[in-house]
Amino acid sequence: MISRKAQANANIALVKYWGKSDKTLNIPAVPSLSMTLADFGTITEVSFLNSPAHELFIENKANNGEAYKRYSAFLEQLRLLIKYKGFIRAQTYSKVPYKAGLASSASFYASLVKALNSLWELKASNKELSRLARMGSASAARSIFGGFCALNGGHLTHEDAYAWQISSSLDLSMLVFIVQRQEKSISSRSAMINTAQESCYYPAFVKSSAQDFKKAKEALANNSFELLGKVMEHSTLKMHASMWAIPSPINYITSNSLALIERVYLLREKYGPLAFFTMDAGPNVKVLTKTEHAPFVKAFMSKVPFPHEAILLRAGTGAQILDECIS
Ligand code: PMV
Repeated sequence: MISRKAQANANIALVKYWGKSDKTLNIPAVPSLSMTLADFGTITEVSFLNSPAHELFIENKANNGEAYKRYSAFLEQLRLLIKYKGFIRAQTYSKVPYKAGLASSASFYASLVKALNSLWELKASNKELSRLARMGSASAARSIFGGFCALNGGHLTHEDAYAWQISSSLDLSMLVFIVQRQEKSISSRSAMINTAQESCYYPAFVKSSAQDFKKAKEALANNSFELLGKVMEHSTLKMHASMWAIPSPINYITSNSLALIERVYLLREKYGPLAFFTMDAGPNVKVLTKTEHAPFVKAFMSKVPFPHEAILLRAGTGAQILDECIS
């Protein structure tokens, strides 16, 4: 049996995407910018299947639930695009806790597409792979690349909605504070649909995103950590505020998340702009800092009085083929 295995790391948005301009093609409503994390990702192995349906195994367990439905629908879109008629088995293993706002789907879809590119011998460029990964999970487009990465957003065609790497000399690390590993109660997919339809603040989030994107790109070009950190916090809070401003609000921020945010404020008050926070669709908090300050920031942040895990991660590589296994 021929199989192909690929690895992709999770990426964390510094400027957030939230909401879609095209639900079928999964095109983000706004541009976003991220950092890919080192050694914090997903390995996916794909093989051809002689059966009438696709199969998905997560950590060696067959999945027939929501994850399978989404994966299967994604493969159907891909099969139409590349005119392939057979079925696929995917086996996936991840270091990233599932559905906890830690970009598990980004690393899964990026690794899946990278592995399929090899299995189907598509010879697609990374730009093309980012378009394909985007159809599975928009943020997955960014996990195709390492380091800092941008993703187009707005009213775009499939062709124009791709990600690309951004170079910068900033040497940054991300401290991931896990306060909750359980799956979130509402998926980012449904939460962003609700927000776009019902939040009176959502138009303001969309309107101001282009400016955040521009500022973050300037900050990376000028190696300005402080500007980047400020834009990241602004984008994060606007995204969460837009979710709060729904008649039935969506709230991913817990008291522990808030305590971590307050600790970042305290750190800055005492020692200057050493660190900035961000959060995604879950209660876990990520803290961005220069790599040289990371051990100090980690020690300071870890004094919060509740159980948590603190993982220190540097910028990582893009999606890669691991080996070409033929068994
Ligand atoms: O790519 P999705 O559909 O899993 O959504 C990701 C949304 C955020 O993580 C909250 C923001 C982002 O840009 O990654």
